[in-house]
Amino acid sequence: MDRTFSKLTVEIPAGPENSSHTYPIFTGQDILSTIGPVASEYHIPEHVIIITDATVEKLYASHVQAALLNYGFRPDIITIPSGEANKTPETVRFVYDKMHQLGCGRDTALVAVGGGIVGDLAGYVAATYRRGIPFIQVPTTLLAQVDSSVGGKVGVNLPYGKNLIGAFYQPRFVFIDTKTLTTLPARELKSGLAEVVKYGAILDRELLSLLTNTIDDLLKPDVSRFPEIIERCCALKSSVVEKDERESGYREILNFGHTIGHAIEACTNYSLLTHGEAITYGMMVETHLSVNHCGLPADDARAVCSLLLRLSPPPLPEPVDVDQLYQTMYSDKKVRAGVLRFSLINKVGDATFGETPDEHYVKQSMRKVFTTGEDECVY
Ligand SMILES: NC(=O)c1ccc[n+]([C@@H]2O[C@H](COP(=O)([O-])OP(=O)(O)OC[C@H]3O[C@@H](n4cnc5c(N)ncnc54)[C@H](O)[C@@H]3O)[C@@H](O)[C@H]2O)c1
Ligand SMILES: [Zn+2]
Repeated sequence: MDRTFSKLTVEIPAGPENSSHTYPIFTGQDILSTIGPVASEYHIPEHVIIITDATVEKLYASHVQAALLNYGFRPDIITIPSGEANKTPETVRFVYDKMHQLGCGRDTALVAVGGGIVGDLAGYVAATYRRGIPFIQVPTTLLAQVDSSVGGKVGVNLPYGKNLIGAFYQPRFVFIDTKTLTTLPARELKSGLAEVVKYGAILDRELLSLLTNTIDDLLKPDVSRFPEIIERCCALKSSVVEKDERESGYREILNFGHTIGHAIEACTNYSLLTHGEAITYGMMVETHLSVNHCGLPADDARAVCSLLLRLSPPPLPEPVDVDQLYQTMYSDKKVRAGVLRFSLINKVGDATFGETPDEHYVKQSMRKVFTTGEDECVY
């Protein structure tokens, strides 16, 4: 078994609102059973709570529990129900109560073993329980490995908006075992690929070309190409977070596709589409908007759009209510001083943030994308 892993260090300098943080992201194939010595090296307390969901509990959480137990830790498991509809303050309360029953104090650590929902929710619990306890991310979906486990945004949803309750809370370390992707359903793999396309579109033209050339292979069950992509995406995200941990400006570029994507999630009760599918639609619309508002060249728009179409998100309920979607965007965190802000692209690999296109153009782009055929590029 290959037990070597690569290590990328995230170095966040102190800013006006944050202290400095340095932590590693370990990536490797089949490394879950080696988490014990790493946890020990990073001074994780003996009592550990593994937060997971029902699916991942059976697949990996008990494996992580055994690995920690073998190394002298006292790991307990708390299992939350799967799905975005459960990323709520009610589930946070459920976890607090369980932790209280298990005698957790400030000398307890949390380990999130699962996708972005487990990671975001467990991270929020870690940030708030007894004013903050150590936290480790063990992401098991592609989306969580390339995005949500890195950068310290943690939180839960309210019925009227995504991630409206949250904190910036960095983990002690991130532990990515790419072998976990072998059990991931194709739909979830595609959802993660949506965030990968985002990185290419906003920061890395070469990555976008790589995706274009390999998308057929990436959509196959064979996940051997993913380690390289995951490391590249983690490096891209780290470079953004290091410049602007608290999203006072530049980090907003990571929201490309998300102003519209989050509204789609809220309007479909967080249950019809995965986050990745919602932002696939979001990026289609915001690519169109980028052409009109930022002069994105048509060739670049076509390259992004063609990749997004290959991710084939499920159809939206017809007819799509563009006015309702637009109104829902105002509940989003990205609204400032009553103005809707978008992160768009000037060209592939070059993003811009704080854009405020006219309502008319936003709705026009939505109508254009939502009325174009499922496998048809609008360019
Ligand atoms: N914090 C951030 O910076 C950030 C960034 C991007 C997305 N997010 C959030 O991440 C969430 C989405 O995360 P997600 O797409 O990972 O969804 P998820 O956590 O719901 O996981 C998707 C599904 O896959 C299952 N699963 C997980 N790992 C598996 C595996 N290895 N094998 C088989 N099944 C597995 C889960 O049980 C779940 O049913 C959203 O809430 C989104 O807002 C946060
Ligand atoms: Zn996202």
